[in-house]
Amino acid sequence: MSSRYHEVYESWQKDPEGFWAGAARDLVWSKPWDKVFDGAQGVYGRWFVGAECNTAYNCLDRHVFAGRASQPAMIYDSPVTDTKETFTYAELTDAVATLAAVLVKHGVKKGDRVILYMPMIPEAVIGMLACARIGAVHSVVFGGFAARELATRIDDCQPTMILSASCGIEPGRVVKYKPLLDEAIALSRHKPSTCLIHQRPMETATLVEGRDFDWAEAVAAAAAAGEKADCVPVAATDPLYILYTSGTTGQPKGVVRDNGGHMVALHWSMDGVYGIEPGEVYWAASDVGWVVGHSYIVYAPLLRGCTTILFEGKPVGTPDAGTFWRVIAEHKVSALFTAPTAFRAIKKEDPEGSFIGKYDLSHFRTLFLAGERADPDTIQWAEKMLKVPVLDHWWQTETGWAIAADPVGLGMLPVKYGSPTVPMPGYDVRVLDESHQPVEAGKMGAICVKLPLPPGCLPTLWNNDQRFRDSYLSEHPGHYATADAGYKDEDGYVYIMARTDDIINVAGHRLSTGGMEEVLASHPDVAECAVIGIADSMKGQVPAGFIVLKSGVTKDLAEIEREVIQLVREKIGPVAAFKLAITVGRLPKTRSGKILRGTMRAIADGETYKTPATIDDPAILDEITVALKERGIATAD
Ligand code: COA
Ligand code: AMP
Repeated sequence: MSSRYHEVYESWQKDPEGFWAGAARDLVWSKPWDKVFDGAQGVYGRWFVGAECNTAYNCLDRHVFAGRASQPAMIYDSPVTDTKETFTYAELTDAVATLAAVLVKHGVKKGDRVILYMPMIPEAVIGMLACARIGAVHSVVFGGFAARELATRIDDCQPTMILSASCGIEPGRVVKYKPLLDEAIALSRHKPSTCLIHQRPMETATLVEGRDFDWAEAVAAAAAAGEKADCVPVAATDPLYILYTSGTTGQPKGVVRDNGGHMVALHWSMDGVYGIEPGEVYWAASDVGWVVGHSYIVYAPLLRGCTTILFEGKPVGTPDAGTFWRVIAEHKVSALFTAPTAFRAIKKEDPEGSFIGKYDLSHFRTLFLAGERADPDTIQWAEKMLKVPVLDHWWQTETGWAIAADPVGLGMLPVKYGSPTVPMPGYDVRVLDESHQPVEAGKMGAICVKLPLPPGCLPTLWNNDQRFRDSYLSEHPGHYATADAGYKDEDGYVYIMARTDDIINVAGHRLSTGGMEEVLASHPDVAECAVIGIADSMKGQVPAGFIVLKSGVTKDLAEIEREVIQLVREKIGPVAAFKLAITVGRLPKTRSGKILRGTMRAIADGETYKTPATIDDPAILDEITVALKERGIATAD
């Protein structure tokens, strides 16, 4: 089939508002929009201004009324607890309406914020949708973050209520969430009035009298009394959720997602990008704590009337490298979306793909990869093993859906390894030089999107229009700067090569090296430090911290290194995967005092590098090389 991509992209270019108005017609609006796009509203304009809608209604009730009541909406598959549970659209709607009644009873109103700090269990999805149902704004915090990170988010979005669970399950250990939650509330200036705690069988959390309530008891009481909350119409421009993501400092950015534009963009993407029909089974193997989980575990599959899979496990070790194939076969999954790191983990454990033959994968059509650079080796291995198209696509927490992809629903374009393919309708992607001019094909530059951003992308940062302007819009006037650098080729394919800031990507998780440096610098023996991301064959990148000790410190170096590693785990969380701290005598710097992190990374990754002309003392690079070699890290000589 030849692709309709160019035709559809041009139709969007000719009439962006007509394009998105057309896409919006598939959804239910309680009040139509006055304007599809109003450039005079918000920071760079707002979508579907004047309209009212409810995202949860469009995800659930709409399908119940349209005849999908008995179709599975969500399948919870948890190899770590040996549990499987299916919720039909009717059951999920009911569960969401009942929990929503509990939230209302505890005083949660339209516009109030609710934080979720939850493992991958159905209650997390039900909690998110219950907020959406009553117009409350959810903010999910990934379970791998430490108490201090949670406290920062509590202070920034000031939730009325927190939804949590007694524990999460990581291979080989139970992660007790409740002590972390209690510590976060103790650390935060803002105190939520209520916490609703889901007690899991493997860990019973102690509840704080008057503040904490048992989830199951509250829901059972509401169900017995027949209490259900109705969907509350909200403005299309009202926030649906806030999702914090790493910025260049320890203070994360609260990415805001609206209701109307988000529904329209995600609904379009299920067809245009993923080529998925209503009724099909779609699986995003991620976590609801990340944007992939928000968009493609929860909202998009349900908006499309699909069955979504909620998988509580890992690609390997739960129990083996065949888990993904088992889930695909058992639930007749049509498309899987995950991060390349998951496939690198499977490939490492089962390079011959010996588990694949054990399962019937005949329903499986497409594998989608995103979240980090998809290396050609991994793509080719997956293609060979699965014998289906393996498609890289590129996006960010900020955009909420693909900026560039190979649009299956419009007809696939040829795959070029190393490229996530072409810009999606809505995105006018430009590669700019330092003077804001487009560079020619094949030349590297800053990858930007000409404003306005399409529906679904962030309209601003929570309570911080100025930080939004400063972080994304000021560098290249009239454009949104993605903070990714790369190029476009003659065919318009986009290539994402590097971040332009200090964000690193560890196992598909986005982390700030600046945030880690803040933690290292807080150690009493550390005078200065630098954290860089170094290449890792499984996780893509892992952080490496270099510390210079204060003069006069006599403590054992190994002891200090262990302490700073522990400090990052305590302050940021295990997700930082910070396991390498190296004490050095000095850090390489320019004469003006700027630490040469790029050169250090090149040395650690074994790349050939040029000694920067501005370096203060070139001999320090040799010291860094020796220190890395001592830790067994391949370096460039
Ligand atoms: N709660 C508590 N701790 C968590 C956690 C959670 N929800 N998620 C991860 N962690 C912990 C892990 O247990 C690990 O701790 P450890 O240092 O004690 O081993 C640490 O955080 C780092 O986790 P991770 O980077 O995920 O490494 P891993 O070795 O546990 O797993 C993969 C590696 C590749 C299997 C895993 O990252 C994976 O499946 N990734 C692909 C899918 C994905 O999550 N993508 C996200 C964006 S699409
Ligand atoms: P996150 O906000 O966590 O989704 O991380 C977004 C960042 O991850 C992007 O800005 C890129 O740096 C990187 N990224 C995501 N997808 C890809 C991809 N397909 N190829 C290369 N980098 C990617």
